[in-house]
This record gives sequence, C-alpha cells and structure tokens, in this order.
Amino acid sequence: MTTPSHLTARRASALRGVVRAPGDKSMSHRALILGAMATGVTDIDGLLEGEDILATARAVEAFGAGVERLGPGRWRVTGHGGFRQPAGVIDCGNAGTGVRLLMGAAAGYPVTVTFDGDASLRKRPMKRVTGPLEIMGAKVEFLEQPDRLPVRLTGGSPLFERDFRLDVPSAQVKSAMLLAGLNAQGGVQVTEPVPSRDHTELMLAAFGADIRIVKAGEMVETLSIEPLTKHERRGTTINAHRTIWLERSKLTATAVSIPGDPSSAAFPLAAALIVPGSEVTVEAVMLNPLRTGLFETWREMGADLTVSNRRMAGGEEVGDVTARHSTLRGVVVPPERAASMIDEYPILAATAAFASGATVMRGIGEMRVKESDRIALMAAGLQSCGVTVEEEPEGFTVTGGPVRGGATVTTHGDHRIAMSHLVLGLAAAEPVTVDEPAMIATSFPGFVQLMRGLGADIAST
Ligand code: S3P
Repeated sequence: MTTPSHLTARRASALRGVVRAPGDKSMSHRALILGAMATGVTDIDGLLEGEDILATARAVEAFGAGVERLGPGRWRVTGHGGFRQPAGVIDCGNAGTGVRLLMGAAAGYPVTVTFDGDASLRKRPMKRVTGPLEIMGAKVEFLEQPDRLPVRLTGGSPLFERDFRLDVPSAQVKSAMLLAGLNAQGGVQVTEPVPSRDHTELMLAAFGADIRIVKAGEMVETLSIEPLTKHERRGTTINAHRTIWLERSKLTATAVSIPGDPSSAAFPLAAALIVPGSEVTVEAVMLNPLRTGLFETWREMGADLTVSNRRMAGGEEVGDVTARHSTLRGVVVPPERAASMIDEYPILAATAAFASGATVMRGIGEMRVKESDRIALMAAGLQSCGVTVEEEPEGFTVTGGPVRGGATVTTHGDHRIAMSHLVLGLAAAEPVTVDEPAMIATSFPGFVQLMRGLGADIAST
C-alpha cells in the first residue's frame, strides 16, 4: 500500500453510524511492559496495533520477553520476571510513553541500554524521567545533547527507595518511577500535585504488586490484596493531592482486556458535533474519570453527548458514547482539568472553532512538549483556516464563527494535529489538507477508513 503525501477533508453531509475506537494507547503500552516484567503468560485483548505500540512490542521482545500476535488485537507476552540485556538500540519511534516507561522499567535491571526515537521524539525532554532515575541509582548519559535522546541508561540493581514529588502532572514520569520502584529496596513513593491517568497503578495491582493510593484527606485506598504493612506505620502526612505507595514487588502474569481509547474516540465524536445532521456512536469507550475531561468540557459547551450501556471491562468503566450535531458555545476550561484531557486540546480547539464565542484554554504549557508544540501548531493551523486564535505561552483562546478552511496545514508529523484538522475540514466551507498523514497510524490505524464509513469525505491528494 502506498502512503499518500497529503490527505484532504471536504465538507460532509451528515455523518452517521456506530463504530469502535482502537484500543487505548496508554493501557496498550503498559500491558506489554508489565507483561514483559512479570513471570508467566499475559494474554492481551484489544491491544492498539498502532506504530507507537508496535515499537514497544519490539522493545520488550528485545528485552527478552516472548511476544506473539494471536489475532487482531490479541497478543501474548511471555515474561521471565525481568528484562535481559538487549542486543541493539531500543528504538521507540514516535512514542514518548513507550520510551519513558521503558526507561523506568529498565532502570531496575542490570542492563546497559541505548534508547532512541524518531526526529520528533528526539526533540522531547527526557530529564524529567532520567533525573529521578539517577537519584534512585541508575546511570544516565545523554549521547548527543542534554535532556534529549539518544540516552544510554545503566540500570542499578537494586535501586534505592525514594520519595518523589512531581513538579509536572505527568503520568509518564509517575509511571517510570513506579516501574523502577518495583525493583527498588523499600519500593517508591510518588506524590503528584494533580491526579494524572492511573492506568499504571490499576494495572500494577492487577499484576499483583503491593500498591496503595492516598488522596488528600482520605484514608489509604488499597489496590493490593496483600495485608496492609509498613506504609500504615509510617504515619506520613499527605499534603499534596495524591500519593502512591509501591512496595518492591514481583509481578505475576494476568490477562488484560483493553477498552477503546477515549482520546481516539474524540475524533469521530467531534466530527458528529460539528457536521449538521450527524449522529455517531463510538462503542466501548474507556471512561476512566482521569481521561474524560474533554467529554465534560463538550457538555459544558452544550454538546449533545450521551453515554449508554455503562459497564466494567478490563478493570475500567466503559460505555457507548453518542454525539449528535450540536450548537456549541465557548467556555473557559478550568486549568485543573488539563491533566484529564491533555491530549484532547487539539480536537477541542477544532470544535471550539464552530462554537459561538471564545473558548479559553490555559494552564496547558505541557502541550508544547508533546509530539509537536501543539499550541503553536493548532494556532497556526486554525488561523490558516480563517479561525481567530490568540496564542499565549501556556495556552490559547479560540473564537468561533464560520470556518473558511481552504488551507494546507503543517503537522510536523503529529497525529493529533493531523486528525484535528481533518475533522475541522469536514465542516469548513473549503477543503482542509494536512501533510504527513502516515503519522496518524501511530495512534489510530484505520482512522480514514473509519471516518469514511461514517460518510466523511477524506481522500489522498
Ligand atoms: C500518557 C501520558 C500523557 C499523555 C500521553 C500518554 C501516558 O503524557 O500526553 O499521550 O500514557 O502516560 P504526560 O505524562 O507527558 O503528561
């Protein structure tokens, strides 16, 4: 199959249908990594087969795990209770989550590993993870420039116990600390200022780790079936929002079922909200409250968004989410909601372009260090389509109105920038074209086919 150099979205008539989003990207990385660190056979169902995850699958194989694809989304990881010395460089492609979690995991084993990635990943800060890992006892060397890949990491085995307080609410940093802590003498404690996605904690508990959570002002919430031990005796005062206590633990393989990714479901749902006459349902979307800030924000904007068939699957709440074309109004998004929707601001900005009034998005400086500088690229892309955007250092404001479109948008290879502008193009007056569309497959393989199935006009150009 040849890869188109550009994709163009044209104004669509009503979009209709029932679809399924690909498996959750965050959970997919974690399932492969925990499966490889555990002892035994982990059967995974619903794994995202995007490029980011395939890079993590190759990485855990290089670290000695058995990795087999049993069928679509069905993968088997055979773990040997730890990572072995890999033969070559661990190339994580475009995946920040992949490389940061793998560095944390590898830090607990006696291995020396070089981690690398593509041009976009090589621009992203790594010290936020390597710094704490060095404090725990790992050795880290930046091979080309400070704070950037490629990085050579030598695991300290065993690592030392530490009590970390995160400056940025980052699930990737938190997760790296926890994965390293599995092999640290005395475990690890991580306190986060604002709760970030908790898939690592939930999955560690499912793999038998001894892990507990303390939310500000609450009692210890035990995620483990082990009796309460040492931590209760520490009598620690918890001032910050949420502390995770993890004891040094061995993991036991378990089956993992991965629901649909809310961050991917957002694109067809957004298209339904802005294309007149539309009604789209995305089935089996994960509804972990630390991931659904976008849905809450859309509702505040007046979106007709409903959830049916709520149920538990794979340890997470899931539901079928239906979006219908809606008259949207601008809102001020509370900055404290940012962690629960950090990947969703690009698509929120695209829908805000069709709302009446201004949508103010602040406290999101982290967006500048994602797969691209997403504040700058969304501002530039939307402005080139005739939308009024005011950019700030830590946020942006989009003022809605009739959207002209009629532009070719530079995505810098960022999948979410590409998908957000293609969705915009479905309701803009003139077509919208994006470059580097192949990168969409990092998180949403089959995006174009799925959107076409709903009636969208998206074609190679
Ligand atoms: C992720 C955490 C977030 C998010 C990323 C996935 C994860 O990054 O943007 O797409 O799976 O832990 P940060 O930890 O940098 O906020």
